[in-house]
Amino acid sequence: MKKNIYKKGLVVGIIIIFFGLAVMPAIETSTLNDYPLPPPTPTEMILEQSIFRRSSIRDFTDELVTDEDLSTVLWAAYGYINDENRTVHGIDGIHAAHIYVLKEDAVYKYHALNHSLIFYKTGDYRDIGQYDAPIQIGLVWDKNKSSQENYVAAEIGQIGQNIQLMANALDLGTVVTVGWPLAEIGLPSNEVAKIIMPLGHPKYPYDFIYLPLVLSFLPRIKYSNTSLTTAIEERNEAIYWEDNLTKQEQTQAIWSSYGFSYLFDNSESSLDYYIRRHRTVPSAHGYYPLQMYAVTETGIYRCVPNIYNPLYGFITLIYEIFPKFPIPVLAFMLKIRKGDHREEMAQCSSQPSIASAPLLIISVLNLKKTKPIGCDDFSGEEFRWLWYFEAGASAYNVLLEATAWNLSANIVPPTNIESIRSLLKLNDNFIPLLIMPVGK
Ligand SMILES: Cc1cc2nc3c(=O)[nH]c(=O)nc-3n(C[C@H](O)[C@H](O)[C@H](O)COP(=O)(O)O)c2cc1C
Repeated sequence: MKKNIYKKGLVVGIIIIFFGLAVMPAIETSTLNDYPLPPPTPTEMILEQSIFRRSSIRDFTDELVTDEDLSTVLWAAYGYINDENRTVHGIDGIHAAHIYVLKEDAVYKYHALNHSLIFYKTGDYRDIGQYDAPIQIGLVWDKNKSSQENYVAAEIGQIGQNIQLMANALDLGTVVTVGWPLAEIGLPSNEVAKIIMPLGHPKYPYDFIYLPLVLSFLPRIKYSNTSLTTAIEERNEAIYWEDNLTKQEQTQAIWSSYGFSYLFDNSESSLDYYIRRHRTVPSAHGYYPLQMYAVTETGIYRCVPNIYNPLYGFITLIYEIFPKFPIPVLAFMLKIRKGDHREEMAQCSSQPSIASAPLLIISVLNLKKTKPIGCDDFSGEEFRWLWYFEAGASAYNVLLEATAWNLSANIVPPTNIESIRSLLKLNDNFIPLLIMPVGK
């Protein structure tokens, strides 16, 4: 009798295992199918407004992100704007990034051509992020596509910038965080984790007050009539330019690269981080170690976006005492050389025709600012990519701003670092990162 029960049990067990084996691959195959995304939705938000609103969000509600919003954010990040071009500029024409999307059920990889998510792995890996959110977006460097880590970081900087601008425009939020934990999802051996960005609905709603307390001889930043979506879609790049720029156009481009917002951040989250007036790009540790230079027909200028920039500790103290104190922005351009040096500067780049541009903006890394006294030291070579990320985000803003003002810009790598230093009167504590020509 007992023997019979065992026999029956054995048969049932075998059937279950067989059935299981037969069904398992079917489940795998069905999950392996593409997860098609709905078409992205255009945002009405004017480009300058979305740059003004750029800010980091670290606290999220449990509300899910809809597929429509995810689709819009991913398209802005790395989708296609026509048959050939993606939403971001590939430095030297190379695109070498991938995007992973960590959802509750599984990890997916963004397939830009099909605008779909490809199943990568089952499981909920979202807790690898620094901040809890319904979605984590991972950005990686594909070493098979480029060996130039810093230029890929500059591309990833543009992707991150679009994720943040679009998320904020959709009333979602995100923050750039370092991506090493992404390796836990098991990346292919040619991919290196760079950035993780949580995506969700901000716990503390955005609350901005328009307060353009800007003391400057430069024209005031104006709103174009171009939306963020249109600027991304119609990004206009050139290698030759003909006409001059008005002072307004020049100021808009320079401001977009590294300026301050005209909005006062009145939200609760800003109180935690003492940042009430954000800048046009994020910066690792909030160090903001870049300096922007403008080379025009009349001379070379250092762009000073705010004189109290080095006084971060002092500003924090003021906000401790007066949390709502609307500190003004004091911006100006410091002339460091007379005369037209555009040709010399263009000869120090990989694209000498940029000499025809009426404005060359150069982003330069000030190494001293990557190791402020009493703070973590990020001046080493191994951290250099962080600053290229920031330079990429900044250069991308210039591309968008130029498009919004019917101008054309570009991103060109420097080739002769020593000569650029000498033109800008800088020592080897300064590293020129990218050159952005702007014109008509
Ligand atoms: C490359 C990079 C890495 C960053 N890493 C982190 C991070 O690991 N954690 C974090 O909370 N914020 C991180 N940030 C966000 C900065 O702290 C933030 O941009 C800066 O403090 C300015 O604040 P805002 O973006 O709200 O204006 C990073 C930003 C960049 C550009």
